Amino acid sequence: MQRIFSGIQPSGIPTLGNYLGAIRNWVKLQDDHECLWCVVDLHAITVFQNPAELTQQSREMAAVLLACGVDPVKHTLFLQSNVRAHAQLAWIFNCVARLGWLNRMTQFKDKAGKDREAASVGLYAYPNLMAADIHAYHATRVPVGDDQRQHLELANDIAQKFNHDYGVEFFKNIEPVIMGPAARVMSLRDGTKKMSKSDPSDQSRINMNDDADAIALKIRRAKTDPEPLPSEAAGLAERPEARNLVGIYAALTDTDHAGVLAEHGGKGFGPFKQALADLVVEKLSPIAAETRRLLADPAGVDAILRDGAQRASAIADPIVAEAERLVGFLRA
Ligand code: TYM
Repeated sequence: MQRIFSGIQPSGIPTLGNYLGAIRNWVKLQDDHECLWCVVDLHAITVFQNPAELTQQSREMAAVLLACGVDPVKHTLFLQSNVRAHAQLAWIFNCVARLGWLNRMTQFKDKAGKDREAASVGLYAYPNLMAADIHAYHATRVPVGDDQRQHLELANDIAQKFNHDYGVEFFKNIEPVIMGPAARVMSLRDGTKKMSKSDPSDQSRINMNDDADAIALKIRRAKTDPEPLPSEAAGLAERPEARNLVGIYAALTDTDHAGVLAEHGGKGFGPFKQALADLVVEKLSPIAAETRRLLADPAGVDAILRDGAQRASAIADPIVAEAERLVGFLRA
């Protein structure tokens, strides 16, 4: 069975983008893979997080993942900071990756914005830690949204350079798993920007804990153009906002753009937005209710994470110890 690793940052409430681009696919992959699901708090602090909020958001993120169907018994759910191997291997990878490689990372450029000098060193080295997350388990498949593609290419470059420099075949090649019509869910305010939990505008995203009224209002106010929906998928090409809403609908009904347009093509956005809002509420409200139920027992969530960290360490510690031996560290 192939081993899967994926992660999500506890830097806010997860969005519909996280759900459709990643979490939902994680759950589907659990049937025929051995999976490690990680709440990546080390990554979250690459941008300052209020400590009390980080603690709370980490637990909430775990609860949302459980509510979405992540299975903590057959698979492993844990917090990144609770397994030391991630940071240990990341340091080695900091010394393998080249500045030139990191300079090409578009996510760093986006997140650092104009004032690059003020960005944390951690934000710059973020992809090295991400590579360590995956390679510490010898995972070979990584389900992510489309925005992570470049980071996974870098993770493969790092593995190759490590293997080359130390003359070994130790770290494995990884395969990104980017699935479905919502691999890149866009902002509701701007169809050219991705939906993000850290966007300053709450109107730009659907949060996994939004209630029915908030969801309906955000979708009703979502930016669109004046034309009715096209009858064929090709008609969405130059219409990012329309394409985004159709993609969300397609993902939630397990079809594709053409499938949605066969039913809704030619309609105006009024009725389509109403149908979409009903659908999003139908899918998200049971998850929100289950999240609330789980969070009523915080110690129960923490116990799951503690057990997960132990099991994750049992896999990662020997792999990282071997990497340290290959580098030449003396275990005195
Ligand atoms: P994060 O927390 O930003 O996102 C978590 C997952 O959600 C996907 N995603 C989206 N998919 C579709 N549309 C969107 N608008 C959207 N926004 C986010 C992301 O692609 C991601 O799959 N760097 C990772 C976390 C990470 C990781 C790893 C992932 C750390 N280590 C190792 C895989 C393997 C991230 O951006 O998380």
